[in-house]
Amino acid sequence: MENQRNIEKVVNLAKRRGFIFPSSEIYGGLSASYDYGPLGVELKNNIKKAWWKMFVTDRMDMVGLDAAIIMHPKVWEASGHVDNFSDPLVECKKCHKRFRYDHLLEDNSLEPKHDKAKPIDPKDIVCPECGGQLTDVKQFNMMFKTFMGPVEDSASVVYLRPETAGGIFVNFKNVLETQRMKLPFGIAQIGKAFRNEITTENFIFRTREFEQMEVEYFVNPKDWKKHFEAWLETMRNWCELIGLDKKNVVEKEIKDGDRAHYSKRTVDFEYKFPFGQKELYGLAYRTDYDLIQHEKFSKEDLKYTDPISREKFIPHVIEPSLGVDRSVLAALLSAYTEVEGGRSTTTKAIKDVEVVLRLPYALAPIKITVLPLSKKEPLTKLSQEILLKLKKNFVCAYDETASIGKRYRRQDEIGTPYCLTVDFDSLEDNKVTIRDRDSMKQDRVAIDDLESYFREKLNY
Ligand code: GAP
Repeated sequence: MENQRNIEKVVNLAKRRGFIFPSSEIYGGLSASYDYGPLGVELKNNIKKAWWKMFVTDRMDMVGLDAAIIMHPKVWEASGHVDNFSDPLVECKKCHKRFRYDHLLEDNSLEPKHDKAKPIDPKDIVCPECGGQLTDVKQFNMMFKTFMGPVEDSASVVYLRPETAGGIFVNFKNVLETQRMKLPFGIAQIGKAFRNEITTENFIFRTREFEQMEVEYFVNPKDWKKHFEAWLETMRNWCELIGLDKKNVVEKEIKDGDRAHYSKRTVDFEYKFPFGQKELYGLAYRTDYDLIQHEKFSKEDLKYTDPISREKFIPHVIEPSLGVDRSVLAALLSAYTEVEGGRSTTTKAIKDVEVVLRLPYALAPIKITVLPLSKKEPLTKLSQEILLKLKKNFVCAYDETASIGKRYRRQDEIGTPYCLTVDFDSLEDNKVTIRDRDSMKQDRVAIDDLESYFREKLNY
């Protein structure tokens, strides 16, 4: 058995089976924009649901939020994004392609020597596309700007949020007061973020519109190290929960000078993608930077009063920040398995290579697919009755075309944990056959017991 971690194969599967489509495809597509299809939206929702459960509802110290994407422009002045949220850009003087300079350094293996005090001259590198000379480095702000209201002038400029965090900081006081929170506590949010990336790359890895799952965890500054360590552990558990092999996840301490402007310590969780080891998630110690800035710009008091000591101070923040789309990509790559020669010896549907998407059950887009052995009544009628009942509690599908072997393969390829076959004996004994995706073992289960059977198997 070989686990082929090949991006092309996963991109093809994602398109062919309705996980992820290129956006606006009938118009030729839009660069690095993707749409989640029927199976993709289930997978993505399952990831968000699992994250919300692990990071919010399973805990006593977390609450949620869903803030607006377009906020007062002062939010981004205060946070430093208007001045600092930029990437270094170089342009080829010959073909006019634009590149992120730090990525070019990495590609030229110059990154370890990259010292911001002594930058490497772009003249020492050539355009990777045509070998042309590169321009000097310019800073390019990545925030998408638009106008609010009918007048397009500087007074009506607003931004699409570049991170969900902003909405959390500006609601700190609202949440603190309405929920009577005590430190340490966190506010979580899942939502879209937008960055006008200079270069997009590798399918859904780096896009201009993406989704984040973020926590801002407010702590007494004297305790920050302890909480940072605890969140590291939670993030490790999360990686395991979505099926990432430990050996493919690397924790990288980000050194001084390379961290975001607000961070005093950052650990990136990098994943060994087929296109290189790259950032999957980040954990940052944002100190009191954001609340101090918002206090300054808004003139609102954002201090916390300790209920026992009555000490007043600005809490410090630990921020686990996770990309939804990168989670989808890493989960798909980890789950994608090719079995040479096929797994089953009892069917003519064996192919040279069989694909099994070994997604954790909680992430699988479809949990159960009902397969009548024949396309005819009364098997179809009984199958539909079973389907309708199970659909109330589980995401189910139905497939009555092709041989049973082929239908199993189709479900294996999209990661469905259980296939339920209704055969002629079912009409007599009121039982059906359940086949397990991973072990391929089959159980004969009474129709009346199906609900409890699946609740146990799927941990519902
Ligand atoms: N609030 C902190 C923050 O936004 P970040 O490292 O810039 O930190 C956090 O982003 C996470 O968001 C990344 O680790 C990644 O998972 C995801 N992310 C960032 N930019 C992305 C992009 N252009 N496309 C897809 N995901 C992205």
